[in-house]
Amino acid sequence: MKYFVITGATGDLAVTKLYPALSEIFTYNKDMPDIQFLGAGRKNLSQKEYKELINNSLNKTLVQLDFIQNLNYVQVDFNNIETINNFFTAYNIQDGDEVIWYMAIPPQAFNSVIDTLASVKQKYSDIKYKLVFEKPFGFDLNSAQSLNKKIYEHFLESEIYRVDHYLGKETIQNILALRFGNSMFEPLLNNHYVESISIDVWEERGIDKRADYFDKTGIIKDILQNHILQTLALITMEAPVSMEAEYIRDEKHKLIKSLRPIQHQDVLLGQYISSGEKKGYLQEEGVATNSKTETYVQLTSYIDNLRWEGVPIYISTGKRLSENKAEIKLSFKSRFKYFSHIDEGCNPQKNELVICIQPNEEVYYTVNAKFPGKGMCIQPVKLNFTYEESFGQRSQGAYTRLIQDILVSDQSLFIRADEIEAAWNYVDSLIQSNTMKERQLVFYEAGSNPNDIR
Ligand code: BG6
Repeated sequence: MKYFVITGATGDLAVTKLYPALSEIFTYNKDMPDIQFLGAGRKNLSQKEYKELINNSLNKTLVQLDFIQNLNYVQVDFNNIETINNFFTAYNIQDGDEVIWYMAIPPQAFNSVIDTLASVKQKYSDIKYKLVFEKPFGFDLNSAQSLNKKIYEHFLESEIYRVDHYLGKETIQNILALRFGNSMFEPLLNNHYVESISIDVWEERGIDKRADYFDKTGIIKDILQNHILQTLALITMEAPVSMEAEYIRDEKHKLIKSLRPIQHQDVLLGQYISSGEKKGYLQEEGVATNSKTETYVQLTSYIDNLRWEGVPIYISTGKRLSENKAEIKLSFKSRFKYFSHIDEGCNPQKNELVICIQPNEEVYYTVNAKFPGKGMCIQPVKLNFTYEESFGQRSQGAYTRLIQDILVSDQSLFIRADEIEAAWNYVDSLIQSNTMKERQLVFYEAGSNPNDIR
């Protein structure tokens, strides 16, 4: 029997992401009698109260109601191992069973939870354990290293799932398919052909009700250290030996380690201010009135390896921007030699390969084509594929995919200890620096177009 235990059962992450994903999995796998989904928390909630709470926060489709019926609550306090013993006894958890602990809890709690679970493991040693850690995993290199060290004292890497939900997105996984499942892109992905790469993760939303987390974190740790570096690694890493988890993670790790240390003069940090009805960051509930937390970062990165030497990577990410967009763009060097004298009105452009992660799930390539009519006038046109048109559906949610992979022990979409440390090492040179301590913020109006932030 498998027990999928969500710790932090009534928290925001569990409610907005995990229950909808679990209910989807439950619906498509009605033949899952061997899995018990459980919410765990310190609160003293009856099953009825817990189910009502979850029920009120989901869409209440019939499907979800069915799932909620099958969900149970267990009162567990990680400072009191007795409560876990009680849980194991109540559910008759025994040798050969599997217990998945999904830590949907603040990262400050990780340390003590690991200690407690280590004691549980000692006592119930023939149970299979999986520990799932949500991001942020640590808050800098040092803290991530000590977390990993603590984990390794009691658990194996094969028992650990570090989540970066971007890896669960179809459009991110498709990067590997696009690169290594086709012969036409990969030969061009190097400094002979690519002029620059840009990765943008822009959000219209602000910090919602997460001031407590975000004000201590900032956008560098919230998005750059994880979602952006993982995306960058997938688009630029070398071909893995095979598509198995360890080989993919080897290549991502190697790539992140090849990043040139951040040049501070290439970094722009911003914070949004009010505009019309839209609040500024300092007016958000829970944000310190003199907060210097960055809500926007723009920087240029380089990869110091043979393939990418000299190719600038323009990165920008932030909150309260003009649009929602997560996109990778590769701009190719121009080949207009034969068309440079062309007639007025012709407008050849550099070729671009654009991978739209969201909201449009699309990949397109711009090529120059002859405009109909006399003469030789060339103009850019778009060759594209969208998930909806090609497959007749939008992709499933990232968490649905990640949880399915945890259930079948596939670690390909989870971050290994060395990768996470390499990623922290990259941003550490910035977050520990004087640039951050004495940070000069650029103030941008909520709703600004990032191209105007300078
Ligand atoms: C999370 C960040 O990891 O990713 C949030 O903590 C951010 O600040 C979110 O809004 C973006 O993910 P998605 O999938 O909603 O685009």
